[in-house]
Amino acid sequence: MKVIHSLPELRAALKPFERRAFVPTMGNLHDGHLALVRQAKPLGDVTVASIFVNRLQFLPHEDFDTYPRTLEADCAKLAAAGCDVVFAPSEKELYPEPQTFKVQPPTELADILEGHFRPGFFTGVCTVVMKLFQCVQPTSAVFGRKDYQQQMVLRRMVQQFAMPIEIIAGDTQRAPDGLALSSRNGYLSEAERAEAVQLSLALNAMAEQLRAGGTDYAAIEARAMDALKARGWQPDYMVARRRQDLQAPQGGDALVVLGAARLGKTRLIDNLEV
Ligand code: PAJ
Repeated sequence: MKVIHSLPELRAALKPFERRAFVPTMGNLHDGHLALVRQAKPLGDVTVASIFVNRLQFLPHEDFDTYPRTLEADCAKLAAAGCDVVFAPSEKELYPEPQTFKVQPPTELADILEGHFRPGFFTGVCTVVMKLFQCVQPTSAVFGRKDYQQQMVLRRMVQQFAMPIEIIAGDTQRAPDGLALSSRNGYLSEAERAEAVQLSLALNAMAEQLRAGGTDYAAIEARAMDALKARGWQPDYMVARRRQDLQAPQGGDALVVLGAARLGKTRLIDNLEV
């Protein structure tokens, strides 16, 4: 496996390969990321992962500075998962000048849910993924359903810009108790880690009420918010939305339940297709 830090070197290394499968990450890799790499492998003649903590998608008060940077351990895991090329550019390499051109995703998709609570987040994500796509020029790219809205925004970006890239979704990998794997789980204390599964349990309870025919979405959402608040969480949202566009259900739509909540200092997100 090659670990590459510069763009010219990346382009040279990828030149021989026509079908390129790509998994963008911010590093601190866990089995969720590695599952995406394994899923990507058969889609290309070469499998590329990127590791880049993208400043553009963090708000000033968020964890950009403390986000764990564990390149050596990440590379060992990627090599074991069958990755061929790791692109790990420095900030200077990817943003040699301030990135003033940006990709502006549509309000109705990008300013709701995560985008509402993290203004500018999806502009930062779209901008860096657009740029990474220019660097790698993949034929397919795999994104996790764990970040349901992100995957949807990026899929629309590729579609609307007619980028010749197939976007593939990977299932959410979970710890044995049901907690979705996340780099941010490492911030949790032992007691918080034991509590953290309650987010997925609350989403499961919402999904069950919906499967049982519940249509009072506001009541179902409020019960989930209250259940988490009663346990000391600070939920941002717990909602039932249409899978196709993340808008409020109209009746008869395929649904997904999505949640984001802070436990102590750690903000966790999760979702579940109903
Ligand atoms: P990061 O949080 O490192 O996630 C990289 C990829 O791994 C994303 O597609 C994410 O959805 C997926 N992922 C995370 N946890 C997962 C889990 N438990 N199961 C399955 N897949 C999981 O998402 C980002 O980085 C960034 O926003 C990025 C797209 C790299 C742009 O900077």
